[in-house]
Amino acid sequence: MVMTDTRPTAKTIEKYGSFQDSLRAPIHRWFTYPAGYSHKLVEAKIDEYMLDSDHTILDPFVGSGTTSLAAKAKGVNSIGIEAHPFVYWIAKTKLHSEYDIGSIEEDAEAIQSKAKGICSKLVKCNGVWPALVYKCFTEDNLRQLLALRIAILGHECPSAHKDFFKVALTATLRDVTSAGAGWPYIAPSKHAKRTVHREAFEEFPKRVQMMVNDVFECEVSDFPISKHELYNGDARKIEKYIDNNSVDMVLTSPPYLNNYDYADRTRLETYFWGIYDTWGDITREVRDHLMVAATTQIRRNQMDKLMLSPNVRHASNAIYEEIQDIVHRLSKLRLEKGGKKSYDIMVAGYFEDMLKVIEGVYCVLKSGQPFILVLGDSAPYGVHVRTDELIGELALAVGFSHFDIQVIRTRGDKWAGNSQRHKVPLRESIVTITR
Ligand SMILES: C[S@@+](CC[C@H](N)C(=O)[O-])C[C@H]1O[C@@H](n2cnc3c(N)ncnc32)[C@H](O)[C@@H]1O
Repeated sequence: MVMTDTRPTAKTIEKYGSFQDSLRAPIHRWFTYPAGYSHKLVEAKIDEYMLDSDHTILDPFVGSGTTSLAAKAKGVNSIGIEAHPFVYWIAKTKLHSEYDIGSIEEDAEAIQSKAKGICSKLVKCNGVWPALVYKCFTEDNLRQLLALRIAILGHECPSAHKDFFKVALTATLRDVTSAGAGWPYIAPSKHAKRTVHREAFEEFPKRVQMMVNDVFECEVSDFPISKHELYNGDARKIEKYIDNNSVDMVLTSPPYLNNYDYADRTRLETYFWGIYDTWGDITREVRDHLMVAATTQIRRNQMDKLMLSPNVRHASNAIYEEIQDIVHRLSKLRLEKGGKKSYDIMVAGYFEDMLKVIEGVYCVLKSGQPFILVLGDSAPYGVHVRTDELIGELALAVGFSHFDIQVIRTRGDKWAGNSQRHKVPLRESIVTITR
């Protein structure tokens, strides 16, 4: 294993960009997905490995579609897998190629005028949504948002265009919320109210216009034609979707071992559209289908697997012993802590799931080609887990030939003043594993 750039340079940061780049770039910016990574990184890797329209890149955790969109921009074929149905839908809408801008503009006018008519007749919108939605918007905005929802759903247009407007309204939710920005991951009442008031009827048309401009900008660019497949599926079962020995690069950012609950990130959005109504719905339909990376996925009484399964031991006894030791330390530590978080089971589940992903990638990736992961290490309850190295070592145990690690960022600094938090320095790395 080669470890480079233990202190990331300005050049590395510039080359690979950051999540902020995808918040500014056309189409990428249609939905703010904090877990997203930079399209610049994908483009840099495509150039580095000289991929073109004869090649295919796979992202088994494609999220909101950064890898697929960047591959499309470079004329490289792509395959993406995403387990979260709502996030998959966002990626699909962003990747759609045949928007008719003229009719979208006409539809937008019609939708807005219908919505204004509907809104003028709406007195209250009690009983439409779960309580959390009401905590996030003023009474006026609730009526405007509901009117826009009714107008979009009732408007007759091609389904891809309807999805376009639904994504625009989805993004408008965060533009006009009166709750603090971290919501819904943190309860809205814990945040200061926003001082600037924005109205849905003003922000929605701006969103639509921005999206129309993006489609136009990308249409006039001279992209080579390429093929893009997306699956609402499970990265732990890659072989189900993709032929063996058929992929030229795997580039992905899997969930980090940092207790981030992806299912919760879209709670506001899925509640708003009436897709789910309760935490239980989201658990059943989303949380339970994601690989283990958060304690909210763990039901302790049903998951008595403090021991790692023999799969990891079969891959490598040394790695098994190291992870098992971490799991045991965490299962003791949790008893001393107020939250009693199930980091122990989370760590065991994480590596078991990542092993399945690595095995799947080994089957579908061509010999000599790279499997590139962007990921962070972690320190639950202050116990350091060298995630990037362990993933690389697991890959060698599965049969990959070698790996190296490039540190691109240090992490966790923003909690430096928090006395409750561990002081273990963390990093974000690019792990490049060669098949
Ligand atoms: C770090 S995010 C990737 C974000 C992506 N790079 C982007 O730019 O939007 C990890 C993604 O993995 C998804 N995920 C979690 N478990 C999965 C599984 N078993 N199969 C496929 N996707 C999964 C999560 O829903 C999340 O969207």
